Amino acid sequence: MKDQYGRIIDYMRISITDKCNLRCRYCMPEGVEIIPMSHLLTFEEIVKVCTAAAELGVRKLKVTGGEPLVRRGAPALFGMLREIHGIEDVTLTTNGVLLKKYLPALMDNGLRSVNISLDTMDRTLYEKITGQDAFLQVMESIETAVDAGLQVKINTVLLEGVNDNGWEQMLLYAGEHSVDVRFIEIMPIGAGSTFTGVSNQTLLARIRERYPDLTEDLSVHGNGPASYYSIPGFAGGVGFISAMHGKFCDHCNRIRMSAQGEIKPCLCYGTSVDLRQALRGSDPDGEENRMIRENKTIGNAGRLTGKSLSIENNSDRKNELKSLLARAIWDKPQAHCFERRDAITEDKKMVSIGG
Ligand code: 5AD
Ligand code: SF4
Repeated sequence: MKDQYGRIIDYMRISITDKCNLRCRYCMPEGVEIIPMSHLLTFEEIVKVCTAAAELGVRKLKVTGGEPLVRRGAPALFGMLREIHGIEDVTLTTNGVLLKKYLPALMDNGLRSVNISLDTMDRTLYEKITGQDAFLQVMESIETAVDAGLQVKINTVLLEGVNDNGWEQMLLYAGEHSVDVRFIEIMPIGAGSTFTGVSNQTLLARIRERYPDLTEDLSVHGNGPASYYSIPGFAGGVGFISAMHGKFCDHCNRIRMSAQGEIKPCLCYGTSVDLRQALRGSDPDGEENRMIRENKTIGNAGRLTGKSLSIENNSDRKNELKSLLARAIWDKPQAHCFERRDAITEDKKMVSIGG
């Protein structure tokens, strides 16, 4: 469906956990709160939301986290999401640490395309940024995914004084492998606000100086707002996601869902629409849900069986889900406000939003 500004919203990013096996300094520093397991939407609940979203015109889904692969059973969710009528593509954003391990199961469940977050090609610096010596594991995952025929994009956030000199090494990887390397400008969300990023305009000028034959590539590489360039002789492309210095809100096509079922229409604002309540009724911790699944009697002394309750509630709840989603889409803000820090109302960490 369209939002009130006429933008077609056909893409939803779904966070399935706020846990992560890394501690990137700009995303999930030590000490962030983890939400209780009972507040996470179950896979069945995620499928219900995505089914309602597909009925409203969502066609592409991206599974994110935290780190989605730390959630037990994550590969099976891809299969479940791909079966939803109307969904054309389900992709994954991961830090790559566990990707090699789960790749066969993910591919069995239909995964064809993956975004891998990697900010440096230097093993020591990698550990400094992420808190873990997992660089070699990530590189193995990338190579395995490319060899298996997946479309692979590497997402790199450059931070002034941390890894801003590493752009060429990142770029050279795309020179030698068929992966796109995309530079994402850091947004002032959560711990991200304590770092200074590198403007993609500045970066592009530096790249052009080094590679004067760089040309803009207008073919479609993915679902999003990245602009792409090619360099003669390079196996992969170079992408830029310039949320800060190249505001692309006019073409925004997405909404996001947190792991606890809050729909976030825009990264910049704290406003969200809670679907967990609609999914679970008066039992937001999910006890009722579990009982309905097990077909047990709930409520007053057997007056309602689990079965009749689930039938009665199913269509009501589905309609409620759809109307909440439609409201969230319609009310999507016109543009972000990252350039005015005092106007930003999102106070969550990036790790609980899903990037
Ligand atoms: N600004 C931009 N990108 C961010 N990411 C995490 N925090 C931020 C931020 N504040 C990126 C990660 C990863 C993706 C999921 O989100 O680097 O590539
Ligand atoms: Fe879309 Fe909000 Fe991002 Fe702008 S800031 S591109 S409106 S999600």
